[in-house]
Amino acid sequence: MVFPDGFIWGAATASYQIEGAAREDGRGPSIWDTFSRTPGRVTDGHTGDVACDHYHRYREDVGLMAGLGLAVYRFSTAWPRVVPDGSGPVNPRGLDFYDKLVDELLGAGITPYVTLYHWDLPQNLEDRGGWANRDTAYRFGDYAQAVQRRLGDRVRTWTTLNEPWVSAFLGYCSGVHAPGRRSEADAFKATHHLLLAHGLAAQALTGELALTLNLAPVVTPAQALDPSAPISDADREAVNRIDALLNRQFIDPALRGAYPPEVLEIAARHGGLDHIRDGDLEIIHQPIDLLGINYYNPCVVESAPGTPAHEAYPGSEGIGFASLDVPSTAMGWPIIPSGLSSLLVRLSQDYPEVGLIVTENGAAFDDVVVGDRVPDADRVAYLDGHLRAAHAAIEAGADLRGYLVWSLLDNFEWAEGYHLRFGIVRVDYGTQRRLLKDSALWYRGVIQRNGID
Ligand code: FCB
Repeated sequence: MVFPDGFIWGAATASYQIEGAAREDGRGPSIWDTFSRTPGRVTDGHTGDVACDHYHRYREDVGLMAGLGLAVYRFSTAWPRVVPDGSGPVNPRGLDFYDKLVDELLGAGITPYVTLYHWDLPQNLEDRGGWANRDTAYRFGDYAQAVQRRLGDRVRTWTTLNEPWVSAFLGYCSGVHAPGRRSEADAFKATHHLLLAHGLAAQALTGELALTLNLAPVVTPAQALDPSAPISDADREAVNRIDALLNRQFIDPALRGAYPPEVLEIAARHGGLDHIRDGDLEIIHQPIDLLGINYYNPCVVESAPGTPAHEAYPGSEGIGFASLDVPSTAMGWPIIPSGLSSLLVRLSQDYPEVGLIVTENGAAFDDVVVGDRVPDADRVAYLDGHLRAAHAAIEAGADLRGYLVWSLLDNFEWAEGYHLRFGIVRVDYGTQRRLLKDSALWYRGVIQRNGID
């Protein structure tokens, strides 16, 4: 099974999850520093203070990437390193780190893909209302320009945001992520201001532009196992409503300049629509080159009259979120590779104007170290299954340009702390020793062959 010539193979990480050095070289506090220090928010009180110490070990880590043969490394810049207060003076020492990292990558023949926002909002901006405050979008535009000014001579591919649904609905609605607020109205405001931030940054940036979303096919339990399973009218309405909230609420403004009507109707009931101003959707609707897709599992729903709304999905009254009786990862996420095929094919059909790239896919399992090996056959099987699904999508006509595994390294998995390991490289947090898991060795072979045996 061979992928098209020039198919991009890579791996991804994010600043707060790996860098550590939380107080070094003028970095300001982010909402994740605050959140992780708040008792009860992150399992066992883990924080990103040290993480994988990548800030000091980036040369070794780039060496690992080169050994695996990665063509692309997707990482994020930390806004609080670059602009410690979120607005105002730029911190050159913070940019120095990314400057050195980019040079190290280019020296190793690896193309840097920079994501400008992977959830570490400067705390000072949160204190002024965070993403629920319109001004944050403009401050993001300034920050994007500061990064571009410093790295733009060497970085060509820019992603504005990572998973704005998660920022808005887990951060401001269910509160399981930083900043841990619980307001439906603020979540819809945050959504809009994140999208506005995307548009403002896209206007300012030059190069190849991307937006990364956590997209999932929304299906009934029966469809999850058999896509051709029949669906009732009530279930179809449930599927459409969640698809609008999870997927189209973000894709449609960015790629078509309009919110789905269902979303406007729900947002209107939760705080109103005054935050959407004339001209905003024109700003949000910028030409972009790539849609980044983070896929882990489908979203499985069905009509369930009388059910209250899910806390991360305001407007989902009468809909049940179902679990499936299939094997799952250590996160408890069901393993359904075919969901990636159907998602990619659907996106290519509905949004043919944009190229597709899988910017995250991978799995946490309870790895065991045996001598100097990590025999993570379950992760290899997960990745193998999803690559086959990606290949099937390409055969069915999807314009898929590349695949970036989540993640290069075990890292700080947000509310789960260090307990959940997604890396293809194991990190021993006591010694910071890196160990290639079997999945890394397998992935190296995939990259060498540009395909799977
Ligand atoms: C995604 C995040 C990424 C990582 C994976 C498991 O939602 O973008 O940082 O936590 O999930």
